[in-house]
Amino acid sequence: MTDSLAVGNLVNLEIYDFAMGGEAVGRVGNFVLFVKGGAPGDKLEVQITELKKNYGRARIHRVLVPSPRRISPRCPVYNECGGCQLQHCNYDAQLLFKTKMVQDALQHIAGLKGVKVRPCKKMQRPWNYRSKAQAVVGAKPYLVRGDSAEEAEPRFHPFVGYYAQGTHSIVKVDNCAIQLPTNNEILQAARDALERLQWPVYNPEDGTGAIRYLVVRTGFYSKQSLLVIVSTQPRLPQVREFVDLVRKRVPSLCGVVLNLNPHQTNVILGARNSVLWGNDHIIEEVAGLKFNISANSFFQVNIEGLESIYECLDQFLNPQARDIVLDAYCGVGSLALYMARKVKRVIGIDECQAAIEDAVVNSDLNNLVNTTFMDGTVEKVLPTLCNKGSLLQRGTRFSSAILDPPRKGCDLTVLHTVAKMRIPKLVYVSCNPSTLARDLGILVENGYQVLEVQPIDMFPQTYHVECVAHIVRS
Ligand SMILES: C[S@@+](CC[C@H](N)C(=O)[O-])C[C@H]1O[C@@H](n2cnc3c(N)ncnc32)[C@H](O)[C@@H]1O
Repeated sequence: MTDSLAVGNLVNLEIYDFAMGGEAVGRVGNFVLFVKGGAPGDKLEVQITELKKNYGRARIHRVLVPSPRRISPRCPVYNECGGCQLQHCNYDAQLLFKTKMVQDALQHIAGLKGVKVRPCKKMQRPWNYRSKAQAVVGAKPYLVRGDSAEEAEPRFHPFVGYYAQGTHSIVKVDNCAIQLPTNNEILQAARDALERLQWPVYNPEDGTGAIRYLVVRTGFYSKQSLLVIVSTQPRLPQVREFVDLVRKRVPSLCGVVLNLNPHQTNVILGARNSVLWGNDHIIEEVAGLKFNISANSFFQVNIEGLESIYECLDQFLNPQARDIVLDAYCGVGSLALYMARKVKRVIGIDECQAAIEDAVVNSDLNNLVNTTFMDGTVEKVLPTLCNKGSLLQRGTRFSSAILDPPRKGCDLTVLHTVAKMRIPKLVYVSCNPSTLARDLGILVENGYQVLEVQPIDMFPQTYHVECVAHIVRS
């Protein structure tokens, strides 16, 4: 470490790269400093905020020479809110960063050299693309004066927003630049209705109040919207008035659901829903398929990104009419049903019961009779498919499999079972390059070859990237 490296000191830093989480990276001598809000090519004066043995963190004090990739962030609360990390970089720079992040993960985490990583797939709509908003509700108390101090009536101004990165403080956001405009309109209408009816907002400090989050889902193509009110209490007053106030502002709303979540966890949605008005789901239509999506089910948040995944399924799996396909972590069947139209049979597995129920409804909605959906974890259910007398008849093998796990990736049992079943073609869909790389490394050790990886910019303005890997049995 050089003498200038002490917490609080100002140092000059040239940014040469991005790191995994979207922080910019520069070096003082050989010492690495991570800086939020930097852009490769920036010359900065930074103030050191944290020092560890091998690296440190710093905040921008002054931009000395801005990178040609630097632009003005669109969102007025970009620096405070934790939702986006790359709005200060132009879109081409974001795409380059994501491609490189995937290449680096494959090389450094799994030692997979020479795997072709295609350029990150650009979105036509890099703004206002998110079909799902999960906003936190906060409230500022105030007193309405009566004739005397005792008669003063306590009231509150509710606000909606998102957590500042890594904290529980809420940044007020009225118009999120990556949400579909309808989601912003519904959140604002719901916030105004909360204020008008003075529904009690949850206070995490003392556990009083009820309303914690507002979750909105909108179908990009169908234009249907669902509002989910997450509450610690199962009953709310003046429900009809609330619904009327929101519907008057957003007539495309098709349902309002109350989700009960009294638990002190980071998980937003509880398990119990009750319909306050209308439907408990939306219908979205994509690629000629209809999807029933309920409050607790996973569905890709960027429809253009989902369409890009479909293109990869066609290219990488080349589906044929005789194929039997496994869709592990199938959710509501968005990938399974796309394949079901092209192949003989699809078997989907997901641990979320609501998603499996949706997947079954979705098969019916689309008149598909060649799907089977199984409720349970892939690690438990998949090995049973190898058992004698199981769903797969003796001698029948999966022609291909889709693995689309959550961020933590696949359980080791799943990867070993896939290898044991000798499934010839795999597509691994992932929203986390680190766990993707780890799992690809394990598949390679177990007889597979990774032909190529297509990063897709499913989450523009953020550091997140979706990947679709093309894998074959070697
Ligand atoms: C990234 S989503 C993919 C869903 C679906 N393929 C799609 O594109 O809409 C991951 C899914 O894995 C499910 N899941 C998480 N852990 C699981 C496990 N251990 N076994 C089965 N499903 C799991 C979740 O419920 C979720 O639906």
